[in-house]
Amino acid sequence: MTSLLNQIIAIESHSPTETGNLARRLAVNCPSNAVVYLSGELGTGKSTFARAFLQSLGVTGSIKSPTYTLMETYALENGLEAIHMDMYRILDSDEINFLGLDSFASNLQVMLIEWPEKAMESLPAADLVVQLDHHGQNRRIALCARTDAGLAWLKSAQIEFLNAS
Ligand SMILES: Nc1ncnc2c1ncn2[C@@H]1O[C@H](COP(=O)(O)OP(=O)(O)OP(=O)(O)O)[C@@H](O)[C@H]1O
Ligand SMILES: [Mg+2]
Repeated sequence: MTSLLNQIIAIESHSPTETGNLARRLAVNCPSNAVVYLSGELGTGKSTFARAFLQSLGVTGSIKSPTYTLMETYALENGLEAIHMDMYRILDSDEINFLGLDSFASNLQVMLIEWPEKAMESLPAADLVVQLDHHGQNRRIALCARTDAGLAWLKSAQIEFLNAS
């Protein structure tokens, strides 16, 4: 059995571009129906990560912040949907029931969820948790696979080589 520790990869990001590079690397290998939690304090780069990820999936127009709407959806060229959520301003986790997440279930590429801690009990379980933390001027980003699909994803993305060059 794989130990949980083996499923965690941490990298240092020195810029928004490097955070974007990590997101792009993961997006290229993104399995369908993937749920990603983006956790971390204000300004750690969750939206930076989400924007780069969505652009890498082919989203070309403006990527709006879901801070007030809670959710933005994007139709991808492969026919699947990408969902970007931000739970920061959610008052009651029942609000999630009104978003109609179930209607995307059979047609989902990825759900990227900022501030999942605010509504954990009403959200689908994560395949991958991206934990971003301030680290001096930089960001420390830890990736943790929570499912077999998440683990296979991390392995295929070969993140451990990202900082090597
Ligand atoms: N290594 C880095 N990775 C990402 N962002 C960085 C980095 N270094 C500096 N920044 C800056 O930090 C800010 C991150 O903003 P962003 O909106 O992505 O954070 P957030 O985690 O989504 O915040 P919020 O909790 O308010 O939604 C940007 O101004 C960005 O330029
Ligand atoms: Mg944000």
